[in-house]
Amino acid sequence: MSTRLIALPAAEVNAWLDPAIHTYVTAMRYPRGTEHTRVDLWRNHLTRSGWTAVAALTTVSATELFRPGLSRLRLDTEWAHDREILVGVAYGYTGAADQWWNRQLRRGLAGRGYPTPQVDAITSDYFELTELHVHPYAQGRGLGEALLTTLVAGRPEARILLSTPEVHGERNRAWSLYRRMGFVDVLRHYTFVGDPRPFAFLGRNLPLGGPGPASPE
Ligand SMILES: CC(C)(COP(=O)(O)OP(=O)(O)OC[C@H]1O[C@@H](n2cnc3c(N)ncnc32)[C@H](O)[C@@H]1OP(=O)(O)O)[C@@H](O)C(=O)NCCC(=O)NCCS
Repeated sequence: MSTRLIALPAAEVNAWLDPAIHTYVTAMRYPRGTEHTRVDLWRNHLTRSGWTAVAALTTVSATELFRPGLSRLRLDTEWAHDREILVGVAYGYTGAADQWWNRQLRRGLAGRGYPTPQVDAITSDYFELTELHVHPYAQGRGLGEALLTTLVAGRPEARILLSTPEVHGERNRAWSLYRRMGFVDVLRHYTFVGDPRPFAFLGRNLPLGGPGPASPE
């Protein structure tokens, strides 16, 4: 199986959005149909300042190409080869105070008693890792790490922040990846407005290879 990473062009969103969202829904095990509720949001995100996205494309056999689950991952574009499918996607943008996710983090930190200057410091000058997903077909081969590393290489922001569902004992691939890459707790067990599941906010300083994780202190 040969795989390459590519930068996803915003101008070609029509070519990659469906397979990218299919990968996301499958990786997150969301119910089928969730795709339709995310299309507008992903399109809106790519207009944000500092938006950047990468994808992992894998070449599969002719037989695999037509497997029902995998055929949805084909790209409708000239820059993908005949037997390439999109098996991973990651994107993010520069965080800003007028974004819903930023306001949620501020609300959560304030609710835990953080003074305003500290809330301001934590929620400024960061890159938000909005989505990172590898299709189960391609998980466990280091693609998640490769996507994340490529996505944030050369970013101008001081830090990277993300949110991920809380999982008992931090026992899933997302937690294992983030911990391995030096992410530390920013805020734990936060419930976003409109979603009953608890989430964790994690963060670290950029660049990824550089010293010292970010901490809320
Ligand atoms: C989280 C996610 C993106 C990680 O992607 P991934 O490609 O599976 O993960 P990694 O890059 O960490 O690699 C996974 C494993 O491959 C191993 N690995 C790393 N480099 C490797 C390489 N070159 N060759 C073989 N294996 C390698 C890692 O050690 C890791 O092992 P582990 O899972 O036993 O810890 C993916 O599992 C996923 O989409 N999960 C569901 C959705 C999700 O939770 N997304 C994040 C929401 S915030």
